Order: sequence, then structure tokens, then C-alpha cells
Amino acid sequence: MRYLTFALGKGRLANSAMELLAKCGIECEEMKDKNTRKLIFVNEELKLKFFLAKGPDVPTYVEYGAADIGIVGADTIMEENRRVYEVLDLGFGKCRMCVCGPHDAAKLLDHHEMIRVASKYPNIAKDYFYNKKHQTVDIIKLNGSVELGPIVNLSDVIVDIVETGSTLRENGLEVLEEICPLSARVIVNQVSMQMESERIKKIINAMKENLE
Ligand code: PRP
Repeated sequence: MRYLTFALGKGRLANSAMELLAKCGIECEEMKDKNTRKLIFVNEELKLKFFLAKGPDVPTYVEYGAADIGIVGADTIMEENRRVYEVLDLGFGKCRMCVCGPHDAAKLLDHHEMIRVASKYPNIAKDYFYNKKHQTVDIIKLNGSVELGPIVNLSDVIVDIVETGSTLRENGLEVLEEICPLSARVIVNQVSMQMESERIKKIINAMKENLE
């Protein structure tokens, strides 16, 4: 039996994913050591491997078959647009992709003006403004703390994830338009889905049964 490999997006999602897998009887002792610098963890008994990766890299590992199964946010799947199968919505990590900005920026969205949009998600922003709103905009890629964009006048609005809304509130910004709801998803390599379909389907069904 060959190893099946999981790629997990680092951070909160990975913790929730490991909790769910534990409920399915899939555990990895090595991963519980918080101080470890190891990158890959093995469950010899079940012939499973796990590694943690930066969220945007998870669909890349899965597309190329370096991982058979990935667990990552829907935002990353949309942004990366990789050739993978999305097989399950895990329901946790719920948040929204939104256009946000100061209250006054709302009118710039209504009047279809040429505006500047800062985002960690340039492809999602482009698709929303160009294909859905038919508004030509200037998209500026940032790598984090995107809320700074309108505050320091880099951009008029941002396209970003809103979870509790507290980052927006504390910085005098608000949701202006909602693009889509988001949550954690399971993705599978297209070849693995054919070659290891029995084992993979068993794992997916166990996850489905243990969702809250
Ligand atoms: C995310 C997102 C928002 C914030 C939203 O940032 O980009 O900034 O969380 O959460 P809230 O609505 O609960 O305030 P993250 O913490 O991932 O860091 P980043 O800004 O470096 O991307």
C-alpha cells in the first residue's frame, strides 16, 4: 500500500482539520509536538503522511500530486484556480470575501468609476470587478494587512476576507459589497482520485460523517 499524503494550510484551519481527522480515527502523534521543526509527519500504521504548507501553496502541491488530499480555504482555491477536485465543504473557517472601504467609497462602486483596489487576492478581485460588475479598476497586490490600503491612500477600497469584522471596525472601514461566503474545503489530486478512489472516498465519507 502506498502512502496517501495530506497537505494542510498552516494555522487555524490546520488545527481544526487535525481535530476532525482525529474524530475519524486518523491521528498523527508526531504533529502534536508544538516545538518540532519537522515539516512532514507520518502515520505508519495507516500509511498516511501529513505536511503543513502556506495556504496558497496547498492547491499547487495537490495539482502536481505531491499531496493527494489538501485542506485549505475556499478563498485560496478560487484565487489559485488549480486543476484539482473540490470534494467537500468542511463548514469551519467560515468567513466572507468582501469589498471593503470607508463609508464614502460606496458611491465609487455605484458609479462604476475607475478606482484602485488593493488585495491579497488579485484574481478574485479582477474576476469580481471585470466579469461581474463590468467595472474597470486598477488592482494592487498586497501580501497582508490589506486594510492599510484605504487608510494610507494607496487604494480606494480593498477586496479581503471578513470574519468577525473587528479589523474593519477598528480601522474605520466597513463592508461595502459581499462577493461570496467562504469556508474550509477538501481538495483532491485528479489522478489520485482515480487510482486511490477507495481509500480517498473512505476518508472523505468519514470526514463528512464527523462534521458538526
Ligand atoms: C485576515 C483578513 C483580515 C482579517 C479579518 O487577516 O485579511 O485582515 O483576518 O478578520 P476579522 O474580520 O475577524 O477582523 P490575517 O489575520 O490572516 O492577516 P493578514 O492581514 O496579514 O493577511
